[in-house]
Amino acid sequence: MRTQVGIVGAGPAGLFLALLLNREGISAVNIDSRSRPDIESTIRAGVLEHWVTELMHELGVGERMLRDGHFHDGITLQWNGERHHVDITELTGGKRVTVYPQHEVLKDLIAARLAQGGEIVFSVGDTKINGADTDTPSISFRRDGTGELETLHCDYVVGADGFHGPGRQAIPRALRTEYQKVYPFGWLGVLVNAPLCWHELIYANQKDGFALLSTRSPDVQRMYVQCDPKDDIAEWSDARIWDELHARLDTGDGWTLTEGEIFQKNIVPLRSFVCEPMQYGRLFIAGDAAHIVPPTGAKGMNLAVADVLVLSRAFIAKYKRNSQLGLDTYSATCLRRIWKGERFSWYMTTMLHRNNTESDFEQRIHFADLDLVRTNISQARSLAENYVGLPFEQFAA
Ligand code: DHB
Repeated sequence: MRTQVGIVGAGPAGLFLALLLNREGISAVNIDSRSRPDIESTIRAGVLEHWVTELMHELGVGERMLRDGHFHDGITLQWNGERHHVDITELTGGKRVTVYPQHEVLKDLIAARLAQGGEIVFSVGDTKINGADTDTPSISFRRDGTGELETLHCDYVVGADGFHGPGRQAIPRALRTEYQKVYPFGWLGVLVNAPLCWHELIYANQKDGFALLSTRSPDVQRMYVQCDPKDDIAEWSDARIWDELHARLDTGDGWTLTEGEIFQKNIVPLRSFVCEPMQYGRLFIAGDAAHIVPPTGAKGMNLAVADVLVLSRAFIAKYKRNSQLGLDTYSATCLRRIWKGERFSWYMTTMLHRNNTESDFEQRIHFADLDLVRTNISQARSLAENYVGLPFEQFAA
């Protein structure tokens, strides 16, 4: 098999890239170790930056998002029992955020890619990236995990294969630097059959820790509570989850969270991670393969899409104008945006969680940060601009 751009991964980074390249007549094949139903049902975060929704419309994959997404012009921050509305649309000159779950985005991308005749090979095993530092790179894999070894010959290889995939590992260890921060807390997430009970997302920092009220549809709500990342999910009975959610979200002025049946629970640890550089020879890595953010602020998928927008422009410059510059500067261009996403996710995370490894002094500083957002328009605008997505700088391509 042969293609111009071989992509390991059929998540948001890999699929957006294939669609962006197809628009310019550049061929690509995605392979993924997961099955299509697995990819389409894995629950992740669900907030899209403003420009991502515009890109989805441009690529012809925005229709369901427009119909089923929830459009918010603000978020609510809550601490010490008080609520504060951050008017994102007012602060950003008309932008808004869209709550539309990642697995729904993936369904739309996969359907569009297959409809245009694109190839996605699901459920592969034994994936290896070969000759990244040569002019003839390739990806080898086995269909359904056990089939014959096949080789996909390409001009370029993209590792859009998540944190645990082979993409990042194909950059020699001595040539990459990894930056990491592990937080001493995790998120317990639940899906609940219940009606909407607040018109926007609530991010709360209360005595017992962080909680987030989000939504999935008019009848299904998504909620998170801060927990110990080592907690066993069995220790979290439904009654305990509701006690914690009420303690952290209720305001004492009569407003109370609407309960419902909890039909899904999971615990995720929180960490920040960046790998530099994000390229080696003819290999480029994108999304979670190169960087992880803690979920607070929902930047993960948005950063992944930003990487491949930069990469697609670099490939287009190479194939259409034989310009190498965009490819040579891919990593540096992406990392400028990524570190701002890392900073924002770290800021939201540290400001909104209770961290018992920090002193009371530091906790007071976090309250001051929150009060600055309430009282200072520059701080509020900075939060809002980061939340809806920073503008793109001009690319050197
Ligand atoms: C959701 C997740 C987030 O991390 C966030 O900041 C907002 C919303 C969600 O899953 O809905």
